[in-house]
Amino acid sequence: MPRPHILGLSASLRNARSKAGSANLAAELDDIHNREDLDAYIEDQAQIHLDQFIDAGRAEGKAFDELYRALQKTGGLRGLSNSEVCLVAAMWEAREKGCTVEHVALADHFPANGIDVDLEALKTKLREADGFLLSSPVYFGDRSSISHKFIDMIRADSDLRDDLAGKLYAGLAVGAKRNGGQETTLIYQMLDLINLDLLAVGNDSDTTSQYGGTAHAGDIGTIPKDEYGINTCLGTGRRIGRVAAELALGKESRLADPLRLGMWVLQDRNDEVAKMAMPFLQELDNVDLRATNLTGYRIRPCLACDICPTHVGPDQEYRCIIARRDDGMKQLHDDLLWPDVLVPALYSPRDRQGLDSVYQQFMERTRYLRRGDYVYTDRLVVPLVFEEVGANEHFDIRMMTSFIRHHTVMSKPVVGLIHNGVLINAEDVKRDLALAVRHGRRLAQGRLSAANIGADATQYNPVGYVLSAAKDKEAATMSAREQATAQRHTEMVDEAQARLVSIDEKRAIAQ
Ligand SMILES: Cc1cc2nc3c(=O)[nH]c(=O)nc-3n(C[C@H](O)[C@H](O)[C@H](O)COP(=O)(O)O)c2cc1C
Repeated sequence: MPRPHILGLSASLRNARSKAGSANLAAELDDIHNREDLDAYIEDQAQIHLDQFIDAGRAEGKAFDELYRALQKTGGLRGLSNSEVCLVAAMWEAREKGCTVEHVALADHFPANGIDVDLEALKTKLREADGFLLSSPVYFGDRSSISHKFIDMIRADSDLRDDLAGKLYAGLAVGAKRNGGQETTLIYQMLDLINLDLLAVGNDSDTTSQYGGTAHAGDIGTIPKDEYGINTCLGTGRRIGRVAAELALGKESRLADPLRLGMWVLQDRNDEVAKMAMPFLQELDNVDLRATNLTGYRIRPCLACDICPTHVGPDQEYRCIIARRDDGMKQLHDDLLWPDVLVPALYSPRDRQGLDSVYQQFMERTRYLRRGDYVYTDRLVVPLVFEEVGANEHFDIRMMTSFIRHHTVMSKPVVGLIHNGVLINAEDVKRDLALAVRHGRRLAQGRLSAANIGADATQYNPVGYVLSAAKDKEAATMSAREQATAQRHTEMVDEAQARLVSIDEKRAIAQ
């Protein structure tokens, strides 16, 4: 099976690597075999970058533009800037997960003089890749202008957009302040790229599954000090590597049964969501739909337990402390485990009278599923919003920022716009749902195929929860956890065997 190919794109004009130095980067990673070597390499390269600045004129107090020109003459062969360090960490891990990697300095295509260079070559590389990592410094709580130009380049080319649909994206951001906007940068970038039909992942469960790599470094050469930030970048590389490998594996099999779509209506009035969504959902081919209107259930708010879930156990066991018989989460637990594709859905009108919303209670109550070792790992999430123009609740964004925390894969939010009581973009809704189902099928095939070959089950790492962390280390908890993980794995293998047919088998049946 061919290895998936991940492109690493760095989006800083303070980059150390350019042209040949950029091309060499992947080969340099080939010689790094463990984390210790990676840390030494990063430290070394960050220092080289700093030394290059000093040699280029910083020591003599030259003006920055003079120094910048001198630096460009050194050929961009060595050293790494802060955002390049983030990228290299992620690329290294993607490689460890079985991907091939390649580096592109976006500054080679969008240089400081503002004149774009050879965008066709960049587009070809994107088309050839299975996904890309995009690493940007934080500028004013957002991406750099060359990251922005890169995204605009995709937006402006509809053929390229078609060719990139369904490829993977993950982001990395570094800022000088601890809370300098790394998350806002990643959230906006993720939103833009899923809206361009890419599929997005964040960082993996080891650094608690957030929006990607978030590093804290300002001055040149300082990033090696931010070990946790580098860990989030490594986790982002692992995450994109894992999902890319699954998607590649999934190409060898097909689902024998329909794709399971779970639509959960979280805000509604008079069944508006079903009235608007059903005509589109019923048109989808080979889909088993379970639509549940949660606004009809009593969903109590989360109590923020110090230990969540209540105990370690198999996924099938409801393990939230709120166990009243009339609680919606308890009643729906089995349904919540069932889908391949999660479709949280809402009606968002301007007039709020009579509107029922369980959205935020629902979201917070899913904590036991997340902390129960990321039950939704690698499932596709497709937010579905029917929004009256001017309602401005931003649920497409909020659902993305909350659901990605479940170690999922994000697909383009499907947003139906309502004006004067009429759905004005029905064709978009139809197209987006059909595309999401196609990606959902690819991912379900990949997830189940990976289980078949013994890929690791994911475990929740309670970073920041001291009580849970202590509890997690107790011998009884550890052994229960091992059992639960083994059980989840066995069930996934059984599910894979029941639901997947290899392409060869499928051909044989057809003949
Ligand atoms: C125009 C500009 C705006 C910046 N805005 C922010 C910001 O909003 N938040 C932050 O934490 N750092 C900000 N920074 C600092 C950079 O993100 C930081 O120095 C980063 O490490 C640069 O990465 P690089 O060395 O790979 O270019 C800004 C820097 C510049 C030049």
